[in-house]
Amino acid sequence: MNCLSPSILAADFSRLGEQIRELDEAGAQYVHIDVMDGMFVPSISFGLPVIRSIRECSERIFDVHLMIEEPIRFISDFADAGADLITVHAESCRHLDRTIDAIKEKGLLAGVALNPATPLSALSCVLSKVDMVLIMTVNPGFGGQSLIPYTLDKVRDLKKMIDTYGLKTDIEVDGGINLSNVEETMAAGANIIVAGSAVFRGNVTENVESFLKIIHG
Ligand code: DX5
Ligand code: ZN
Repeated sequence: MNCLSPSILAADFSRLGEQIRELDEAGAQYVHIDVMDGMFVPSISFGLPVIRSIRECSERIFDVHLMIEEPIRFISDFADAGADLITVHAESCRHLDRTIDAIKEKGLLAGVALNPATPLSALSCVLSKVDMVLIMTVNPGFGGQSLIPYTLDKVRDLKKMIDTYGLKTDIEVDGGINLSNVEETMAAGANIIVAGSAVFRGNVTENVESFLKIIHG
């Protein structure tokens, strides 16, 4: 299924609950939650207490993108805080296979993310056990950057790989997605679209509706 996953990193944190309800009412299926530790990426965002308190604002899929070192240490905590889907970076896990197992053991959906410069070969051994692959279309750490064009070649190659293996893995794209380039990312093979600034800049409801119109064709 094609879905929109607005990244709340670009939300107005003084009205976070209200904005999450607005996303929900406008029809966005996921809520993308960017957790940064200041080590794996050069920025710190927010963590468990925030997720716990926004959980009551929406029943949509909480799509938690962990940009933290050794996320296996916190899988259980993020599950308890309300995550439905946890994505870890291949680059941040010493034991990627074990980390994916830890997510699945909690009964959650598991995703693996790749930075722009990480080749798809990093996935080949675990592809069949994950529900989603997140192809970073910018270098992680900040919202509001421009999409790096070569990352769409990776999306195309990943789609081929998934089809060749006969899998149904979702492909999520994250970073620099807006109303002008979202179609291109979907044509490349992405079906879960993250957008931060392009959703929260201006009228949130109108932006979500415009994205959904394109995403659902
Ligand atoms: C980047 C984050 C993204 C980011 C997207 O590290 O993973 O989710 O917030 O923001 P935009 O859509 O503004 O690039
Ligand atoms: Zn993200």
